[in-house]
Amino acid sequence: MLISAFELWGFASIALVVQAVTVTVSPTASHPVPTTLYTTAALNAWHSINGAAPSVVADILPVSSALPNSLQVTIPAGSTGPVGVGNEGYFGIKVTAGSTYTASFHYRFAKASSFKGSFKVALQTATGRSLVSTSVTVTGETTKWQEVKVTLRPTISASSIANNFTVTLDGSAASGQIVHFALFSLFPPTFKNRPNGMRVDIATTLAEMHPSFFRLPVSHCFLFSQGQTVDQRWQWNATVGPLLNRPGRIGHWGYINTDGLGLMDYLNWCEDLGMQAIMAIWSGFALGGTSVAEADLGPYIQQAMDQINFVIGDSKMSVPAALRASLGHPDPYPLAYVEVGNEDFFAASTYTYRWHDFVSALQPKFPNLRFIATSNTFNPILSPNPQSWDQHNYNTPSWFAENSFFYDGFERNGTTYFEGEYAAISTNSSDIFGTPATGRLTFPTMQSASGEAAYMTGLERNADIVFSASYAPLLNHVANSQWTPNLISFDAGNVYPSTSYYVQKLFSLNRGDEYLPSTLPVQNGTLFWSVVRKISTQQIIIKISNTVESAADLTFELPFRSVAKTGTAQVLTGAANASNTPTTPNLVVPKNSTIATGKRFSYIAPGFSVSVLSFIAH
Ligand SMILES: *[C@@H]1O[C@H](CO)[C@@H](O)[C@H](O)[C@H]1NC(C)=O
Ligand SMILES: *[C@@H]1O[C@H](CO)[C@@H](O)[C@H](O)[C@H]1NC(C)=O
Ligand SMILES: *[C@@H]1O[C@H](CO)[C@@H](O)[C@H](O)[C@H]1NC(C)=O
Ligand SMILES: *[C@@H]1O[C@H](CO)[C@@H](O)[C@H](O)[C@H]1NC(C)=O
Ligand SMILES: *[C@@H]1O[C@H](CO)[C@@H](O)[C@H](O)[C@H]1NC(C)=O
Ligand SMILES: *[C@@H]1O[C@H](CO)[C@@H](O)[C@H](O)[C@H]1NC(C)=O
Ligand SMILES: *[C@@H]1O[C@H](CO)[C@@H](O)[C@H](O)[C@H]1NC(C)=O
Repeated sequence: MLISAFELWGFASIALVVQAVTVTVSPTASHPVPTTLYTTAALNAWHSINGAAPSVVADILPVSSALPNSLQVTIPAGSTGPVGVGNEGYFGIKVTAGSTYTASFHYRFAKASSFKGSFKVALQTATGRSLVSTSVTVTGETTKWQEVKVTLRPTISASSIANNFTVTLDGSAASGQIVHFALFSLFPPTFKNRPNGMRVDIATTLAEMHPSFFRLPVSHCFLFSQGQTVDQRWQWNATVGPLLNRPGRIGHWGYINTDGLGLMDYLNWCEDLGMQAIMAIWSGFALGGTSVAEADLGPYIQQAMDQINFVIGDSKMSVPAALRASLGHPDPYPLAYVEVGNEDFFAASTYTYRWHDFVSALQPKFPNLRFIATSNTFNPILSPNPQSWDQHNYNTPSWFAENSFFYDGFERNGTTYFEGEYAAISTNSSDIFGTPATGRLTFPTMQSASGEAAYMTGLERNADIVFSASYAPLLNHVANSQWTPNLISFDAGNVYPSTSYYVQKLFSLNRGDEYLPSTLPVQNGTLFWSVVRKISTQQIIIKISNTVESAADLTFELPFRSVAKTGTAQVLTGAANASNTPTTPNLVVPKNSTIATGKRFSYIAPGFSVSVLSFIAH
């Protein structure tokens, strides 16, 4: 190429007047070059149909400045039959009869021509059988980007998830054409029909847990959002508005995040489920090890302020709030808590000035917000003194049981605590973050879930200072795990709620309004309980976790005037290593039964069980 360019130049300078071009180069970069550009990774999940040659190119006329690349598809000369591309989805595509799928993409022809034809947009089985299709008329004159949006309503369900989303042209008519495509999208029906919304089955599983808050921008590990470098951090303004304006980013866990699920999508999700948002802001530390110097924090503090204003600002007073209004939400979203960073014990030495500078700037502007610190609790000493701390615990099932008194010794002085991430993830205390070969769990087990439940009885007992708690991580695609175990696993076709999910659901759906002190469990024992009262229904609710194999016999003595003769027991129990997995999705689910209750009654807690007893008492 270089040689021919010189030849051309030499020839032209003799024979022609050559237009003089001066090219100046900016010393500052506008955007990083994605490592996937020009690599086969960018073509992951894409397939050629009938010899079309798809490639990823840096488009000379990009569809938007946020999306500089396009998928270039060449219909080879002499083609016949349908020629184009297929995409196998995110490890498969579930195709269900009667569901409406919304498909969209942008396209432009590389060169103007008199070609007239149509795109066939379809869902097909992996062997090429069409499940549903529709045609969109196109002409070769369309050399500027044009969006195609169609709905597909299959009348037959596919027998497996090995299906493709395909776009083809008739090869003989389109022979020689080059088409550029961008921003493909295929959505099944969404939860509450939100455009760009949540998959119904996953969202419903979460909704059924009746969560009261959601930690965002991602529920587990803001690590996802911290980025390995400062440039790769999650930035709220790159995740709102039209998808065409969302550049996406390389996330911490080694794959590209499209940010199709952006800040406003999370907030709408909170609204749909009646959840509060606990929102994190980036606090000047990238996981690769860089802490922004104190003198350089200004723009990042401003960006955090803008992020908060986008959520709660007055649309007449603040530009980010006006943006929210223009996107269809004039009213502020509810927000009470802002978390400054995530797991900042990774950079505790710089957190002292980062916490100080962020909170000193933000607290006066947002006096009603409570800011949460994320380094180790009370370490380092921070100023201003944090009103709340976020505590994370990943450990063994027995650690959780042994630490169910974790918060009992904390001073009651106005400081409150958020158990922002916890899970029993390994049975090997000398290798908590190891592999399944050394005890790491792939899915929660009945043993891990009962350990967590033991710990949660302690959270309930300490609910005067522990204001919220969330298992982590929440979701896992079984075909592509970066971390196990997870609360809810799924694949393209199904959802697999774990034993831990059922524990969370049992605790969440059986919350009380007030805690009733009772005989304390033995601190280093294996049997744990907590007692609450639900005022509206006059119910006493007792949660019990038995963390070992042998059953335990409990007797309750209740001081009330009258206690119903019967109550309900909801019990989750199974073998120590029993897990709900794709092959045994419903191995352990809660079962209800009626039990005898009264002013004094006995209950046998099965080995490895979590029980919720409820009955009326006055
Ligand atoms: C369809 O998907 C399968 C994987 O499920 C893949 O092997 C095949 O190449 C795809 N075909 C098309 C046309 O996309
Ligand atoms: C987001 O805002 C920051 C300034 O806070 C700016 O540097 C960045 O370019 C913006 N990103 C997008 C995608 O608009
Ligand atoms: C509460 O006690 C803890 C531990 O002693 C201390 O670090 C924290 O600053 C105290 N909070 C207040 C508001 O005094
Ligand atoms: C626990 O982890 C250690 C360190 O990896 C390993 O040597 C040991 O074999 C593990 N124990 C079990 C029971 O897997
Ligand atoms: C439990 O703790 C008590 C008090 O610390 C101690 O005396 C007892 O030995 C412990 N029991 C076991 C089984 O560890
Ligand atoms: C569960 O534990 C039992 C008894 O230790 C063992 O026989 C079985 O293979 C284990 N099952 C799984 C799925 O690990
Ligand atoms: C079990 O009982 C609880 C509490 O009464 C109830 O909410 C739940 O729907 C019941 N579950 C089943 C499977 O009947």
